[in-house]
Amino acid sequence: MSDKSLNVNDFKRMKNEGVRITALTAYEALFAAILDEAGIDLILVGDSLGNIFQGRDTTIPVTLEEMIYHGEIVARSISRSFVVVDMPFMSYQISLEDAVRNAGTVMKKTGCKAVKLEGGIRIKDTIKRIVEIGVPVLGHIGLTPQSVNVLGGYSVQGRDNKQKIIDDALAVEEAGAFAVVMENITTTLAREITEKLSIPTIGIGAGPFCDGQILVTQDMLGLFRKYTPKFVRKYAELYDTALKALGSYIDDVRKGNFPSDKESFD
Ligand code: KIV
Repeated sequence: MSDKSLNVNDFKRMKNEGVRITALTAYEALFAAILDEAGIDLILVGDSLGNIFQGRDTTIPVTLEEMIYHGEIVARSISRSFVVVDMPFMSYQISLEDAVRNAGTVMKKTGCKAVKLEGGIRIKDTIKRIVEIGVPVLGHIGLTPQSVNVLGGYSVQGRDNKQKIIDDALAVEEAGAFAVVMENITTTLAREITEKLSIPTIGIGAGPFCDGQILVTQDMLGLFRKYTPKFVRKYAELYDTALKALGSYIDDVRKGNFPSDKESFD
């Protein structure tokens, strides 16, 4: 993969060539730059910032203005990755006109490359209209956190309503989405959908047979401790590392060991 910035065609090509897509979340400049330098293909400015950045219990209170604020920061902090911004709850559900206006505003004000919408059949027409005006859409099916109150929690989807999830996936593809996130569905269902669709599937809690994987960065780096879903693999324990460093700082300051001559001016 070259250093040029990625576009929607790269994801289709990666699926066709069997190259798995790597994706993570970012909400601010520092992590956006690290993810970009590491070579992550797709950076999602997820409305999970409601949980991780704002310390809320759900993503429902997150506003369009907040997504634009974080999206603009992330989009101008990267050079290669493909940046997608989540459309928050109630920014695309009221009417087609409203959805198109809000998606266009996100694109204009953030400089991102695409938007993500939660839902399948019920938002097929919305995805279609947004794509028609020139905005690439990443779909999101299975567990859709903005609907947590209807779903009754964050449980695995598709065990007793397999056909509905398949129909949602097909609807998202037919509407013109360039790829689809599948959250918290069984491995066999995710595999079946991945084989059926011509667009890439990006899994989170959807097993190993998707065309790509996405995680929340603060989960996989061991920074977010409130809860850890079963599907998360921790690649570091940065919360512990930070605690240890802060303890050493407190100790050094109390004992007069910081700053030393090296850290002071003559
Ligand atoms: O909001 C988010 O971060 C997401 C991903 C976890 C897929 O939707």
